[in-house]
Amino acid sequence: MQFTLATILAAISAVSAAPATGYGSAPAAPNGFTMMSLRSASPIHFGRVDASGGKFYIGLSKPSSYCPTPPVPASSCPPGNSTVISFGSTGTAGLKVIVPGGQQVYVAPDNSLSYTGAHSAWIPTGSTVDGFSLGKKQSNTLRTISHSKGGFLACPAKANTGPWKVFVGSVKNKDAPSGKACDCLGFSNNAIEFPNDQYGAWQY
Ligand SMILES: *[C@@H]1O[C@H](CO)[C@@H](O)[C@H](O)[C@H]1NC(C)=O
Repeated sequence: MQFTLATILAAISAVSAAPATGYGSAPAAPNGFTMMSLRSASPIHFGRVDASGGKFYIGLSKPSSYCPTPPVPASSCPPGNSTVISFGSTGTAGLKVIVPGGQQVYVAPDNSLSYTGAHSAWIPTGSTVDGFSLGKKQSNTLRTISHSKGGFLACPAKANTGPWKVFVGSVKNKDAPSGKACDCLGFSNNAIEFPNDQYGAWQY
């Protein structure tokens, strides 16, 4: 455990000090989203994109998440059962977590969608840390997530059998979990608003 009780208490008070929207002011722009995959007539239509072990998958029962209790009181832990992403103004993205230092989202050299470990800023050389963009809110309330490297791909553990690992742009056979890039399906990745005053997890 590399953080002290003081940093944890500071993190908790930062949560409770999250700005409230004042009466009569414009609603704050949403700062967190869960992700839903759409690919009609496929097993990943209406799939949930979850963080687990540094990567993202469709078809897990829940994300990997952790809250250090103690010293953090259990009542201060977010539920940790959904995966929430935030987008920066310069094309970057991160997970909406409390852990000091945050967790950055990036595209690894094998094009897998990835995130940094808690208490670590380590990202492999050759990764892409920007290029994310969030489209405008559509009439169905969804926003399209895109990336400058190309479209999102979901690659199954075995042909047509999840969980499906998420990649961006293209996938090589050696990097596809099933060993065959032709098993991967392209999908549209859609952002669903998550409450501004809540976190997805302490850490993923
Ligand atoms: C996560 O847990 C909370 C609190 O128990 C619950 O209200 C919510 O529906 C759950 N969300 C998901 C995606 O399972």
